Amino acid sequence: MPRDEPSILVVDDVPDTLEVLERCLTAAEYRVHTASGVVEAIEFLEKAPVDLVITDLRMPKISGLNLVRYLRENLKETEVMMITGYATVEGAVEAVKAGAEEYLPKPFTEDELTAAVQRVLKKRQMRLLARQAPDEVAAPAGIIGESAAMQAVFREVAKAATTDATVLISGESGTGKELVGRAIHYQSSRASEPFVPINCGAIPSELVESELFGHTKGAFTGATALRNGFFQAADGGSILLDEIGDTSPSTQVKLLRVLEEQEVYMVGSSQPTRVDVRVLASTNKDLLSLIKKGTFREDLYFRLSVITIALPPLRDRKDDILLLVTHFARKFADQAERPTPEFTDSALQVFRRYAWPGNVRELLNLVQRLVVMQEDARRPFDVPDLPRHMRFSVNRGAGPLQTLAEVEAVHIRSVLASVAGNKTQAAKLLGINRKTLREKLKSLETSAGE
Ligand SMILES: Nc1ncnc2c1ncn2[C@@H]1O[C@H](COP(=O)(O)OP(=O)(O)OP(=O)(O)O)[C@@H](O)[C@H]1O
Ligand SMILES: [Mg+2]
Repeated sequence: MPRDEPSILVVDDVPDTLEVLERCLTAAEYRVHTASGVVEAIEFLEKAPVDLVITDLRMPKISGLNLVRYLRENLKETEVMMITGYATVEGAVEAVKAGAEEYLPKPFTEDELTAAVQRVLKKRQMRLLARQAPDEVAAPAGIIGESAAMQAVFREVAKAATTDATVLISGESGTGKELVGRAIHYQSSRASEPFVPINCGAIPSELVESELFGHTKGAFTGATALRNGFFQAADGGSILLDEIGDTSPSTQVKLLRVLEEQEVYMVGSSQPTRVDVRVLASTNKDLLSLIKKGTFREDLYFRLSVITIALPPLRDRKDDILLLVTHFARKFADQAERPTPEFTDSALQVFRRYAWPGNVRELLNLVQRLVVMQEDARRPFDVPDLPRHMRFSVNRGAGPLQTLAEVEAVHIRSVLASVAGNKTQAAKLLGINRKTLREKLKSLETSAGE
């Protein structure tokens, strides 16, 4: 056997298990070592680090979790895979959180074992390659953003892409959750397999099960032929369960089973079908409060949130607004075969100040509408071109709470700016007479000078 075959240390307190694993992995041409406990394993690793450690979770003296933590602290190049008893879901989640790359529930077949080992070693290779790349994380294809908040997201995406763990992507509507799910898939080792996004909230509840898991011929009236579901379609790839918070209790139970056993039951069949699907989920709801209300299963939540990525609302990444506006303006102008439009500084100020309740989607739609409706391509877009609700908006969400007088002052100034300082028009929009406006402006000037 060549010297550069990957090396594996197997740790288990049961001699029989050690022997079976050793035989199977040696047959698959790995260099295999064994240890019967955590201490013996650490002693071995201090002398001879290996590429992969496969450890049992439950061992009499010291839990395998401690070995995982030791490796993550001390031997960052070594991958870990955990073998768990079937009943310990929390243990498995904990193992992955502690840094185990994979967990394999017992009992497993030799094929399942070698497939998992191959997966982990491939990820290790990708990770080692990625480490040679410079520090600055490039934005994944199709995602615009340079703000610190988005840089952090890109780093999490890159990390999530090197594992097979479930990822829960949260964030307000239109913040780019689907885009992030897509990026994780296309950066992962499953990139050449399908990516299947599904909006769980949009499927009528009575159809969810057959849509997700498929149905057999004759499963129900109208089921004239066997039909695969989204899970079968995603086999080998990733599935994105969007609006996961909207799923019914019975669908939640079924999803939990898929996550635990990697197998699905087609509607009308009592035989499970094995699927190899990486599950990503997204939500714009606060799942923890749904758990408190009793409408979302806690065990499913923990299964889904092995890795969590929270997308910040657009108003918390103002540095990206200009970038996004320019990007979409160019994109839609190109599509319409027109020159890329410009925006005045005051218009861009309004963009920055606005609270963007619909986030990037709202910004995208607005820029598209502006470009499509534009009459004179040479004139830059200015404040009066923007929708009323934006021109007069004050972002009350940002910064410390303001007094009524401060809010009034900001509002008066933004209304005035939107009509280029025309007091008659401003007074009309504010619903006060010119005299009152003049008095208010005078007192604003005095207080500004204080
Ligand atoms: N950072 C970004 N760069 C470029 N385009 C973006 C970005 N974020 C979002 N978009 C675009 O905005 C639109 C909404 O994004 P996406 O569908 O990913 O949001 P979402 O969070 O899944 O929204 P919802 O909660 O409504 O499902 C898409 O057209 C997407 O391409
Ligand atoms: Mg979405």
